[in-house]
Amino acid sequence: MASPPAPRPIPVGACVFDAYGTLLDVHAAVGRHAARIGAPGDGKAAALSALWRAKQLEYSWILSQTGDYEDFEALTERALDVALATHGIADPLLRQSLLAAYRELDAYPDAGPALAALQAKGVATAILSNGSPGMLAAAVGAAGLAPRLDAVLSVDDLRIYKPAPRVYALAAMRFGCAPRDIVFVSGNAWDAYGAARFGCRVLWLNRTPQPEEYGLDRLAEGRITTLAELPDRIFA
Ligand code: LAC
Repeated sequence: MASPPAPRPIPVGACVFDAYGTLLDVHAAVGRHAARIGAPGDGKAAALSALWRAKQLEYSWILSQTGDYEDFEALTERALDVALATHGIADPLLRQSLLAAYRELDAYPDAGPALAALQAKGVATAILSNGSPGMLAAAVGAAGLAPRLDAVLSVDDLRIYKPAPRVYALAAMRFGCAPRDIVFVSGNAWDAYGAARFGCRVLWLNRTPQPEEYGLDRLAEGRITTLAELPDRIFA
């Protein structure tokens, strides 16, 4: 049977990435210390990591709704404390190790090569993240991604979190282009939706794969299952 035609490449002003869950593996921190959390195969480490991430995001959305703000590093700490308490873990040294690991998360193996290939094509690249500038600089540096990025943009100046529309406007302002000329790549469906609603062209990174959410099959330009697909999908 003939394979479907390849999608037409998208022209871009810049290719902008979400950080946590897109370029950086948020579960790498717990992964490094899994043996201190539970027995192999008991699922405790994975459950802790999932709750940590869920609470971190919940706090960001709730604060944005109430008009309050604390930076993402503080929310990450609070979320970890709740996740540890929920799992009955009282281990200050483990807490310290997990927070240190979160500052130096592993990049997904496809992140560096995809960014390099985009740069080689003359495509401007950036991160637009809820992360605070300090934690983003540490993680991007540790993962060796700094030379591959033209900009690392944080919500911190705006004191509101994605998916607030004015966060996505930061990317358009930074590159002096219309939202439509930004290709936004996120592994977080809610974030992909926010960017698409703002007017960016969105490629939803669906690694596992997850079921469709937020009407993304209609709103997004497409889905990708690995960042390795990107260089063929866009051009400067
Ligand atoms: C980011 C997280 C929330 O903005 O995924 O990087």
